Amino acid sequence: MDIEHKINSLIEQINYHTHLYYQESQSEISDFEFDSLLSELTELETKYPHLKKADSPTQRVGGAITKNFETVEHKYPMLSLGNTYNEQDLFDFDERVKKGLDGEDFEYVCEQKFDGISLSLTYQNGILTRAVTRGDGTKGDDITHNVKTIRTLPLSLDSKKVFPAIFEVRGEGFMPNSSFERLNKEKEEAGESKLMNPRNAASGAFKLQDSKEAARRGLDCYLYYLMADDLPFGSHEESILALKDWGFNVSPTWQKCKNIQEVLAYIETWKTKRFDLPLNTDGIVIKVNSLEQQKILGFTSKSPRWAISYKFKAEGATTILESISYQVGRTGAVTPVANLKPVLLAGTKVKRASLHNANEIERLDIRLGDTIFVEKGGEIIPKITGVDFTKRRNDSQAIVYIENCPDCGAKLFRLEGEANHYCPNDLGCPPQLKGKLEHFIQRKAMNMDSLGEGKIELLFDKGLVKTIDDFFTLNQQNLLGLEKVIEDAETGKIRKVSFQQKTVDNILLAIQNAKSIPFHQVLFAIGIRFVGATVAEKLANHFLTIENLQKASFEALIEVPEIGERIAKSVIDFFAIDRNNTIINNLQNAGLQFITEKKALAFESSSLAGKSFLYSGTFENLSREALEKIIESNQGKLLSGVSSKLDYLIIGDKAGASKVEKAQKLNVKMISIEEFNALLNQV
Ligand code: IVH
Repeated sequence: MDIEHKINSLIEQINYHTHLYYQESQSEISDFEFDSLLSELTELETKYPHLKKADSPTQRVGGAITKNFETVEHKYPMLSLGNTYNEQDLFDFDERVKKGLDGEDFEYVCEQKFDGISLSLTYQNGILTRAVTRGDGTKGDDITHNVKTIRTLPLSLDSKKVFPAIFEVRGEGFMPNSSFERLNKEKEEAGESKLMNPRNAASGAFKLQDSKEAARRGLDCYLYYLMADDLPFGSHEESILALKDWGFNVSPTWQKCKNIQEVLAYIETWKTKRFDLPLNTDGIVIKVNSLEQQKILGFTSKSPRWAISYKFKAEGATTILESISYQVGRTGAVTPVANLKPVLLAGTKVKRASLHNANEIERLDIRLGDTIFVEKGGEIIPKITGVDFTKRRNDSQAIVYIENCPDCGAKLFRLEGEANHYCPNDLGCPPQLKGKLEHFIQRKAMNMDSLGEGKIELLFDKGLVKTIDDFFTLNQQNLLGLEKVIEDAETGKIRKVSFQQKTVDNILLAIQNAKSIPFHQVLFAIGIRFVGATVAEKLANHFLTIENLQKASFEALIEVPEIGERIAKSVIDFFAIDRNNTIINNLQNAGLQFITEKKALAFESSSLAGKSFLYSGTFENLSREALEKIIESNQGKLLSGVSSKLDYLIIGDKAGASKVEKAQKLNVKMISIEEFNALLNQV
């Protein structure tokens, strides 16, 4: 096959699997196989740059850096929608439509009003050529480089489909709540201030200069409006069905409604159901379905007469503030949490709300026993919006913010200009120590999933693991048989954590696997304040070894792109503490990587040499990535499908029936994860 053919075939395969994974929630190949296809394509494109296509899926991983955005004039202006807030407004809208259509029959399509940023995408001959923000409605910013990172968006359409040579499609770019929560968790872990809400977060991410960073933010978009000079469709419904058919991400929540009564029923249904969606919505959009009738109704200077939005009011409730607890995080930051008399809000029972910091308590002037207003609006976590002062008891007292750490008793401090109080006892305060351990084992750090869910609590309480280097002193003897009864703080349910042979094997396997985790991840895992995953990668790539980083001066640190004074100071402070250097020393002795390895994996053992593997299904406490890494780093070969060349098929939970059948037919040996562990450990 010549190079161009090879590239085309790779693009076709990658697009097929991306669509299947992101839009149909299915996968036919493993993440490892997918990444191999992508890296094969990247390699070919680097070698033969003239063959690189604008719609190549490698564009999605980002890379383009824009200095400033080009301003682009919209071909069709981007208008807004009229807002309504109550039934009467909707009846009035319905009357205006009836009148405008001279009593003709018509129907509506109802959709969610997605809370993100409006995007206009241009496709020429089926290829995404430009993505522009709404801007002022007539002109917007060209943010194509960032929009291309959205995995659910086709960069090119299947040429077998019939679509207009040039068309524009509009939709809402957004940050799914899952991405938002992940980013905020990262920020919290790095000790940075959190993002306000998914809308702001999306807006910031779409305007990033560096599309690699945009790719990391996990953006998405829903398309809802197709425009072209000669559209071959008669209705809005047909256009969105066509968009779906061409591979666009159309939210399945839309519904055709015969009359305004059905519209009201749709609104009622989604008033609470919307909280189950993967993104925030703030209302419903009602559109006249027929495109001909849309044309008749036309536009005012600001908005279409054929559509309107119905805005949801934030759901509110009143309840009583019963107490305030103070939580201490990994970095020592203290967060006050309001414990409320349980109240039903937007379909869920709310018992707690964050009070953020001492300033917020002061701003709300909130006191114990107060009747307070809680709301669930765009934000995921309910918030306290105010106090009903008419119900305040005469003898109530203003809240005095704690002065000492609720866990270790150390005197709290507050940095100049910061809203948070901190506990200074980072080497002795239990929640800080446990937080550091939890941080260390997470997926993006040391990926030791098998230590999650209460196991750290047990190891900590039994005195086996206090700091991260203690993980590497664990063995069969000190783990087997450990047990503890744990009460879930949220539900009050009691559960027993106990280490049986299988759990112990999994923990030891994860510890062994930690040795093949690259330096930048290890650097993130050790938990230096303000050093998140991305910063750790930048530092590791720049300084190459931990020794270089340990002796780096403030000046040398701020010379690294994107490393500012705050991070530099934090790194210097970290290495100025002897205990931290001792921990690093111990980790080095345990065999963790503290050098940026440009080459592939270092081999752990040759116990799997000459044997080929494939797995199917999932495994408790072991991610696919970890399993793949273990196979490879012990010199096993990972195959992509069942064939007579395959030696072992590892069977997990819900293993695929077709793989199992094929393996039976070809007499391929099927083994459990325990049998795999035995293979791994045989000398
Ligand atoms: S249709 C002519 N459909 O709401 C206007 N807009 O206030 C066509 N929006 O800027 C827009 N979800 O960003 C439409 N399902 C939906 C929408 C939607 C959110 C946003 C859009 C627009 C704003 C209008």
